[in-house]
Amino acid sequence: MISASSIDSRSRSGVDCRGLTLSYNDPEAIAGLERAHEASLAFGGDAIALIDEVIAKHPDFIMAHIFKAGWLTQAMETRIYVEMKDAVRAAERLADRANDRERGHFTAVWRWLEGDFAGAVSAWEEVAIAYPRDLLAIQLAHLSDVLLGDTVGQRDVVARAFKSWDETVPGYAFMLGFYAFGLEEMRDFERAEAMARRSLDLLPDNPYAVHALGHVMESQGRIEEGIAFFKAEQPRWEHTSFANHLWWHLALYYFDKDDFDAVLGIYDRHLRSVDPNSYQELDAAALLWRLKLLDVDLADRWSELADKWTHAATNALYAFNDAHAMMTFVGDDRHDVQDTLLLANDRHAQCGRDTNAMMIREVGLPLCRALQDFHRGSYDACVERLMPIRYRTHLLGGSHAQRDVIGLTLLEAALRAGRFPLAWALASERFELRPNSIRNREFLMRARKGLEESGVILPANADRIDHELERAS
Ligand SMILES: [Fe+2]
Repeated sequence: MISASSIDSRSRSGVDCRGLTLSYNDPEAIAGLERAHEASLAFGGDAIALIDEVIAKHPDFIMAHIFKAGWLTQAMETRIYVEMKDAVRAAERLADRANDRERGHFTAVWRWLEGDFAGAVSAWEEVAIAYPRDLLAIQLAHLSDVLLGDTVGQRDVVARAFKSWDETVPGYAFMLGFYAFGLEEMRDFERAEAMARRSLDLLPDNPYAVHALGHVMESQGRIEEGIAFFKAEQPRWEHTSFANHLWWHLALYYFDKDDFDAVLGIYDRHLRSVDPNSYQELDAAALLWRLKLLDVDLADRWSELADKWTHAATNALYAFNDAHAMMTFVGDDRHDVQDTLLLANDRHAQCGRDTNAMMIREVGLPLCRALQDFHRGSYDACVERLMPIRYRTHLLGGSHAQRDVIGLTLLEAALRAGRFPLAWALASERFELRPNSIRNREFLMRARKGLEESGVILPANADRIDHELERAS
């Protein structure tokens, strides 16, 4: 239990820019930690390199080690686990001099290392309840909730601390950005947009707020406005470490417009990284899969992307990653590595007790098998696998926009399986949510054509449908 009233030993304590006490009292070290933290918040600069400089000069600064471990958690990559483990171990050696708040952070990163992602979030939440100006705890809980698909958590970890913040507190613009995204994922679009715009007024160089507003526009089908917004903001986000994801968002708008040349142009220029160590292959895989669903010629793009995922086939670290890895293995027809990934996931689902074991069981494995079904033309089987999980795909993690690739796969499979009443129903859902989406209109028209050609008559007002489709065109 963390107590806000704990009194740390002030004689050897420092204070950060938000008034939080640190057990290590060296102004240069604390300033260095704040620079590294700021880099992580703004996705600008290399936060790990910055904190490594601090650690080199101040090896006994526990919060520097904890920050490093905490920021590394967000990579969701086994390739960084050795480094993360070293940082946690270094913090552990200093734990006897840590204060209450720092021990809370230490618990979080320790749990993460053990695979208890949900437990780590709880620990960060506990810190943020006791210390509502602990922006690192709020940031890591919020971002981890995105990784875990906990939309309520994404919003509420900010909401419950919000009254302790205003423009005078350093980092307020970042709080607004986190809040905007949490509100967007909870479909509170109006407030989300207001928070994002306020954040950008205070700090134009805040790619996370650009991202939140981009999600709002995407969710509301404001396609042309979204494209114009991303382009107008581009000089402020294109050099950040968040740029890859924001390019993907821009590509989604073009996908919605059926402008596949523009989608592939963005892919080739910004997502088709030739760096074999790049950690940002998720969105690239999902974008290619969207295009595959519509039979767009992808040339050799699957092959080079699958190469980059092969190293992760046996990880069973994070089901969300594995589903994206599977897209590339299926897309490139690599049967052996598909089997390897499924075997590793099967084993972990049966033996694992961590958060990922649940994610694999609930969504990851059925989804991976559905991707295989789709590729081999077993569209009925694909539908049968996806229908039971369609309302719990959030357990896989990611945002609504990222998980929409699952809904698109289900709908396309229903159309190809000739299950037109289902396809009509699924297309209608999408159309009701975003009637101004060209993509949704086309799905609806294909489903209606299928119904007509197969002689199925559903009770519907044909004139009204024609009118709505026309209006959406
Ligand atoms: Fe996003």
